[in-house]
Amino acid sequence: MHSFDEYKKIINDHLTDMLPDPGSEASVLREAMAYSLEVGGKRLRPSLLLAACEFAGGDINEALPYALALEYIHTYSLIHDDLPAMDNDDLRRGKPTNHKVYGEAMAILAGDGLLSTAAETVTGEPLRHADDPVRLAAHIKAAHEIMSRAGAAGMIAGQTADVTAENKDADASLVRYIEEHKTGDLITAPVRAGLMLACAPEDMIDAFTVYAMDTGIAFQILDDILDFEGDAELIGKDVGKDSDLGKCNYVCVHGMDAAKKELHRLTMEAKESISGYGSAAEFFTQLADSLEIRKY
Ligand code: IPE
Ligand code: IPE
Ligand code: MG
Ligand code: MG
Ligand code: MG
Repeated sequence: MHSFDEYKKIINDHLTDMLPDPGSEASVLREAMAYSLEVGGKRLRPSLLLAACEFAGGDINEALPYALALEYIHTYSLIHDDLPAMDNDDLRRGKPTNHKVYGEAMAILAGDGLLSTAAETVTGEPLRHADDPVRLAAHIKAAHEIMSRAGAAGMIAGQTADVTAENKDADASLVRYIEEHKTGDLITAPVRAGLMLACAPEDMIDAFTVYAMDTGIAFQILDDILDFEGDAELIGKDVGKDSDLGKCNYVCVHGMDAAKKELHRLTMEAKESISGYGSAAEFFTQLADSLEIRKY
């Protein structure tokens, strides 16, 4: 297994590899897509995909295009999330948001471009394995996993619930739905897809699905905590925005103390779900611990 920083470096070294060239007539589109990718980011989701694949004995070179596709989907979700019609944010990854630099029309198109490039990538890769039914099936499963969790019953459903719940009395189950879908799905997809590419056994995929969803929900709860008490400079986003927008999240519904307790409970549960793999799964248990205490 590599370290998190090594996976992150692989992603950063190949970040724009899959972006198509739209020609000089639309060169600004590629520029806007590359801008939001290159300004920074933790690369958590693509690193998880490479790690899951390697953990189950797969080839990370084969997994890399899927990892990049995941980061393209995540980045598109952030560009659209920041638009005036959604969260109306000026700062992302410590830099002006895409629409602040390129205008709203181009930010919408850059998001569309990143999503389409991801779809192009995950449907193109299986074609390389058309002669090998086992590899072909593994690739198609991974591709479907990524696109369905990004889709209208996945991340987009979570974003829909998030915006429609603004300024409403929210209940605990709606908050959990939002966390599971807007964030949990895009953290679960890379773990499952990485394992699928490595033809991991079902019981391993099941255990790591619990790990990934718990880690994803915990990730969103801490994102919400940091919006209240984090350091804007470190986070690279404006803070205090969620209460201004009347967002419905764990902190608003259950309070700050309960949010911190739930963050810890989910982190423990995530680690417990893969405890059967012992020290072999250290990468994932250490990652869960480091995400629990992240400041950005
Ligand atoms: C931000 O995700 C959006 C959430 C789901 C909370 P990250 O905090 O992973 O954002 P980057 O990729 O590091 O910018
Ligand atoms: C965004 O949640 C989740 C997605 C983009 C799918 P938030 O709106 O809380 O993310 P930030 O705080 O803007 O990064
Ligand atoms: Mg949002
Ligand atoms: Mg937002
Ligand atoms: Mg947030």
